Amino acid sequence: MGFSTDVNLSRYSLAAHSATCQLSTTVGVRTAASPPLGPKDTPNIADIATLAPMKAAVYSVTGPPDVFSYEEVPDPTAGRGELLVAVEAVSIEGGDTLNRAGGEITRAPHIVGYQCAGTVVGLGEGVESFSLGDRVVTVGVDGSHAELRVAGEAFAWKVPDGLATEEAACVPVAFGTAHDCLFEFGRLQAGETALVHAGAGGVGIGAIQMAKAAGARVLSTASSAERLERLAAYGLDDGINYAEVDFVDAVRSLTGGRGADVIVDSVGGRTLEQSLRALAYRGRCVTVGDAGRHPSERVDISGLRPNNQTLSGYFLGAELFMAPRAHAMIAGLLDDVAHGSLRVVIDRRFPLAEAAAAHAYIESRQAFGRVVLVP
Ligand SMILES: NC(=O)c1ccc[n+]([C@@H]2O[C@H](COP(=O)([O-])OP(=O)(O)OC[C@H]3O[C@@H](n4cnc5c(N)ncnc54)[C@H](OP(=O)(O)O)[C@@H]3O)[C@@H](O)[C@H]2O)c1
Repeated sequence: MGFSTDVNLSRYSLAAHSATCQLSTTVGVRTAASPPLGPKDTPNIADIATLAPMKAAVYSVTGPPDVFSYEEVPDPTAGRGELLVAVEAVSIEGGDTLNRAGGEITRAPHIVGYQCAGTVVGLGEGVESFSLGDRVVTVGVDGSHAELRVAGEAFAWKVPDGLATEEAACVPVAFGTAHDCLFEFGRLQAGETALVHAGAGGVGIGAIQMAKAAGARVLSTASSAERLERLAAYGLDDGINYAEVDFVDAVRSLTGGRGADVIVDSVGGRTLEQSLRALAYRGRCVTVGDAGRHPSERVDISGLRPNNQTLSGYFLGAELFMAPRAHAMIAGLLDDVAHGSLRVVIDRRFPLAEAAAAHAYIESRQAFGRVVLVP
């Protein structure tokens, strides 16, 4: 403890990171035996011996939640244009559970996780938009389930004043994806009907709120009546319990046979195949995920052309890599959450050491909104 911005990083020291990581700047963290260190203090090489590596929830093989173990692993290092962040809240994304279940292992042990928020404690060379001590939320291909994470400047956002760090931790991927699916790719207009699959998930709750605020009629699927009832508070007009009814029939019935103008499909597989049959004339379906765990290998597109319909793929990572537009869009969403016009829903918090229990809770289908890990 003793870090100037109250981050719990007693194991982290200016000296070691200056000596081993070639960071241009690193915030000092006092160890018990060290004199007080400020951000601009000269590194004290003697502190290296007092360090312990960071802890992370890791796995070496993919599989069910119990593949996780909680271990000491080498600290990440910030390269050019990157930030080193002391993690305070990890939002478990839908993609994190899929990656743990069967995704790519980039190194062993692997640290899964797209998104987390915390405080900047190190700056690689050339970083221009961030300073030590900034509260930030970051996105990356992996590495969020840890005490420290490195992220590129283009994949980080300052947390607006007044917004809790743990709420910010839940915004970029889910809300940015929801916004792009509805508006950039779905071209949703006021007065149209949107169908949001998996409404109780992170992307779903964001999409329901945004579609409603845009003046659309909002339909959504979920696996229980209780989940659908809770979604009414976020703007859901008509819920469809897909465990009990055929959602294509339900959409046709609710729209007088017309179908949905925009469908955000994060479930994939058989659901995606059916979504195309629930589209209205000129309808747009955006396929964004495989939460249903059975990706589609073939989709029958024969109905699209006669009905002037569109099927789009969407990947937020490509938008962030290819265009600054998406970064600015997400900054705006963080402001919306800070001002209260969009709401983050956090169901439960678990210690990072209990990542296995947190993933198991999500996979039990009880989670409503986000589950957050706290290092
Ligand atoms: N392409 C991109 O850029 C992008 C960005 C963000 C997310 N995604 C993808 O979108 C999907 C949803 O992400 P998310 O963050 O919203 O996920 P999430 O918060 O974990 O929610 C997933 C939802 O999927 C539903 N679901 C349906 N079948 C399921 C199954 N077999 N196992 C578990 N859940 C199931 C669950 O709702 P019910 O129980 O009510 O059905 C659950 O609420 C994921 O596949 C993720 O990888 C893609």
